[in-house]
Amino acid sequence: MTAPILEVSGLARAFGGIRAVDGVDLRFAEPGIVGLIGPNGAGKTTLFDLITGRQSADSGEIRFEGRRIDGLPVHRRARLGFARTFQECRVLVEESCLDNLLFAAQDQRLGGALGRVFSGRRSAGREALEDAWRLLEMVNLPQFAHRPAGDLSYGQRRLLEIASTLMARPGVLLLDEPAAGVNPSLLNTVHDVLLRVAAERRILLVVVEHNMPFIMSLAAHVVVLHQGRVLEQGSPAAVQNSPRVVEAYLG
Ligand SMILES: Nc1ncnc2c1ncn2[C@@H]1O[C@H](COP(=O)(O)OP(=O)(O)OP(=O)(O)O)[C@@H](O)[C@H]1O
Ligand SMILES: [Mg+2]
Repeated sequence: MTAPILEVSGLARAFGGIRAVDGVDLRFAEPGIVGLIGPNGAGKTTLFDLITGRQSADSGEIRFEGRRIDGLPVHRRARLGFARTFQECRVLVEESCLDNLLFAAQDQRLGGALGRVFSGRRSAGREALEDAWRLLEMVNLPQFAHRPAGDLSYGQRRLLEIASTLMARPGVLLLDEPAAGVNPSLLNTVHDVLLRVAAERRILLVVVEHNMPFIMSLAAHVVVLHQGRVLEQGSPAAVQNSPRVVEAYLG
């Protein structure tokens, strides 16, 4: 039996008196898209911070493919295959879209998964360039390759950001509200891109979203956090019909 891709057990983190993450157990065995929802302040971003190492846990364990990673710093976890986006979009507005992707690859070459792939290979630059063009096509932005990312609409920046994370060829991608602030005309593109990423890369995507139609039609499995704990999890239909979930959102 192979180990789950990602497993957290008894994970907890408090800030002063606030138990932001309060004893979370989760197990994701298969690649695919998991939705992570919950009211404001439920602990979603903190859970991402704990998994990626941006914040340290007070207690609990995190395992990636069976290996304990909770003691590792951010860059070591990134090298193992973790990538994320943040609630606020982060692109280099003055650099071209193509350079945004190449810089993302370069970051990884300093120690990341791509560094291992590329080490000792003279075609490194060309391979990264091919990856970058492939990703620009995937997110429907090849015509912007040589334009500064600052020329993009907010939704297009989100797409570029997602493409940038993929330059590192992660095994787990954590997306914090990828649809927030995206123009309705681009929501379908973001949705389709994420489905394509899951299908083509066979990775685990965990997506935090407040946009319910978006996440419920995207995720195969949905986890509901409430006050730092897992309130419910299951298929989108089961979660939407759960009285506890309805109460948490209305209460
Ligand atoms: N660095 C911090 N210092 C103090 N309190 C924090 C810190 N980070 C998070 N918190 C608190 O922990 C709780 C969980 O916050 P978190 O940002 O994880 O929620 P969230 O589910 O991502 O919410 P949202 O949907 O609004 O983004 C909140 O009460 C928040 O105020
Ligand atoms: Mg958040």
